[in-house]
Parts: sequence; C-alpha cells; structure tokens
Amino acid sequence: MKPLTEQVHDLLSKKDLVGETVIDATAGNGYDTLFLARCVSPSGTVYAIDIQQIAINQTKSRLTDAGCNNVVYLVGSHAEILSLLPDNLTGKVAAITFNLGYLPGSDKTVTTETESTLIAIETSTCLLKPGGILTILAYTGHPGGKQEADSVEDFANQLPSSDFISQEHSPTPPASNSPRFFVIQKR
Ligand SMILES: C[S@@+](CC[C@H](N)C(=O)[O-])C[C@H]1O[C@@H](n2cnc3c(N)ncnc32)[C@H](O)[C@@H]1O
Repeated sequence: MKPLTEQVHDLLSKKDLVGETVIDATAGNGYDTLFLARCVSPSGTVYAIDIQQIAINQTKSRLTDAGCNNVVYLVGSHAEILSLLPDNLTGKVAAITFNLGYLPGSDKTVTTETESTLIAIETSTCLLKPGGILTILAYTGHPGGKQEADSVEDFANQLPSSDFISQEHSPTPPASNSPRFFVIQKR
C-alpha cells in the first residue's frame, strides 16, 4: 500500500490548485509545503505554519533550494492560525494540510496535541472556500496520538453533512498503531 503521505498528495493532485491560496498547518521538514507550492504554481500562495523555528528553517531551506518563492513562513501554533494569517482569508482557502505528530529527526516530545489540533481544525473549516479540502494525517503510535486521532474522527463526524463531506481513507483493516487519514471537503 502507498504511504498515506503519498495518498494525501495524490488526492490533492486531483484538484486544480493553480493560483490558489493553500495552507500547510504543520510544515515540519517541508515536504508537504514543497508539494503544495508546486500545485499552486508561482501565481498561488502557500502559508507554511509550524510551532518550531527549526521546522520553519528546514522548510524554508527546502523550498529555497527548489526555487519556490510563493511561500509565506509563519512560526506559531496552528491553534492561533487566524492571528498568524492575513485578515481576509476566511472562505478563500482551497486546501489545508495537517500532518500531525512530531518532527521526524528532531525532538519527539514536541508533538501536536489534541486540544490545539481541534481548535486549528475547526478554524480551518471556516477558512475553506466552497469545494476546498482539508486533509489530516494522524499518527497513533506516540503518547496522546490515539486520543488525538479519535478526537479528529469525532470532530469530522459531527460536522453538518449539509455543509461538509467527511471521509476517512485509513488502511483497512486498521492495524494497531496504524496512521489515520481524514478528509473534510466543504460543499
Ligand atoms: C509530522 S511533522 C510534519 C511533517 C511535514 N508536513 C513534512 O512534510 O515534513 C509535525 C509537525 O507539527 C509541528 N507542530 C506541533 N505542534 C504544532 C502546533 N500547535 N502548531 C503548528 N505546528 C505544530 C511539529 O513541530 C512538527 O514539525
């Protein structure tokens, strides 16, 4: 089976994101930011957010090496996404990615946390434009990860189906500790 990170990219590739505004809410090592920067092309914009300066440095370095100039780098918690972003993005964002957990190759104690993740995801649903898509990869193998993934599932399931399509694309059957992939699309 393809890694879920690739499945996220495959799903986003099916959307025409050229010229769009998109957000990587967990920039990490910058792989997703780079993918998004290429999807939106130079006429679009990626906002790359991470709570760790080291992650933003890694991301910036990867994007600079790739010659991408269409990324705005933001250090801070995605729970405060509205205060990090420009004012006028509500209802205008075509895609938002969350790749939860810790920064690979770095301090594994700095992970996303259920409470801030839920605030960020709820706020993100307001930022999406009609047809916009929110992807969430949640890892269950680290402390707090399973609870975080279950909470994301509960949040996705309680969204009104008149406004959102919520789906889970996780491996079946799920193995213990297997990552989970949620997709929320605004109608
Ligand atoms: C699995 S990594 C992301 C991988 C990344 N998308 C990539 O392509 O390399 C998770 C990231 O979430 C970040 N993070 C943890 N809590 C956060 C928060 N509250 N707000 C924003 N980023 C956070 C970590 O610093 C870490 O870099």
